Amino acid sequence: MSEAKTALVTGGAGFIGSHLVDRLVSQGFRVVVIDNLSTGKLKNLNPAATFHHVDITNKSVVEVFQREQPDLVFHLAAQASVSASTKDPIQDSDINVMGTLRLLEAARRCGIEKFIYSSTGGALYGEPQYTPCDENHPIVPLSPYALSKYVGELYLQLYHRLYLLNYTTLRYGNVYGPRQEPHGEAGVVAIFTQAMLEGKQPQIFGDGNQERDFVYIDDVVEANLAAIERGDADAFNIGTGEKTSVNRIFESIQSIIKYRWGPEHGPARPGEVYQISLDGSKAARELGWTPQATLEEGLGQTVEYFRENVKAAR
Ligand SMILES: NC(=O)c1ccc[n+]([C@@H]2O[C@H](COP(=O)([O-])OP(=O)(O)OC[C@H]3O[C@@H](n4cnc5c(N)ncnc54)[C@H](O)[C@@H]3O)[C@@H](O)[C@H]2O)c1
Repeated sequence: MSEAKTALVTGGAGFIGSHLVDRLVSQGFRVVVIDNLSTGKLKNLNPAATFHHVDITNKSVVEVFQREQPDLVFHLAAQASVSASTKDPIQDSDINVMGTLRLLEAARRCGIEKFIYSSTGGALYGEPQYTPCDENHPIVPLSPYALSKYVGELYLQLYHRLYLLNYTTLRYGNVYGPRQEPHGEAGVVAIFTQAMLEGKQPQIFGDGNQERDFVYIDDVVEANLAAIERGDADAFNIGTGEKTSVNRIFESIQSIIKYRWGPEHGPARPGEVYQISLDGSKAARELGWTPQATLEEGLGQTVEYFRENVKAAR
């Protein structure tokens, strides 16, 4: 029997990364995780994974590559908050640009098979000229985060041109599901769910009519797996093509939980795209990927997870 392949997942203790690690472990990969635990949690981390508590901006990244000799790299570690990037664009770029470059250097020196990069379809295209946005839509970053993630994409293209480093870029919509941090600023589904379960009043930034493409975590994990064998040297939107308003998300969770109160409204946040959806037909054609979860199913699973967690915390 051939030896198991080694998959290195950066950000493997985070929301998306930890689900990907679980799936790779169940598929028989030897999984190695690099994470600095800045937003990730050890409790998310699959015990079968080898863990390196390392910052991707640190030189020691190269030693991890030398020791572990990964075949595949899934790069998810990032400064992933739009508002944090507007407050500290230098730190955002240190992690998302320089951190990514450091990983690419280590990857090409080790001679990996493929680098699979988590990018953002939700932020990259700016306020769309048309929806759903396909991959040819002009790139118009409205935040340091959107720009730094895109610079990561450009470095991948360059490393392919210079060194034939193989890659796939996945541009996600708004990912939601179990384990998403409810305390930060990013995931409205997690924030609303947690607040309602605790009997607190969730806050909506702006009028709530802003519309996003919400894609369920399991579907995002499957897109990463599909990219192992397909979609070489190319970028793909990973979204549903549907626009869903923040108000509708609020109402759907409200009805699942049977929460009695309305939302509180706060000021809109700078740098955020108002209305977007992503055309996933290229991913369907070339990766063989289509989203499977309906919004109701995904929200149902998410509420169930948070219910258990809130109960356990009592
Ligand atoms: N969640 C979304 O809706 C969404 C949408 C589009 C793209 N993405 C991208 O997906 C990836 C994962 O996002 P997420 O939602 O799981 O966020 P997350 O914050 O849960 O995960 C990021 C992980 O990276 C780790 N990390 C951060 N900086 C690091 C550093 N300097 N060195 C080592 N580890 C570091 C964190 O500790 C965390 O475990 C990111 O690249 C993000 O840009 C996410």
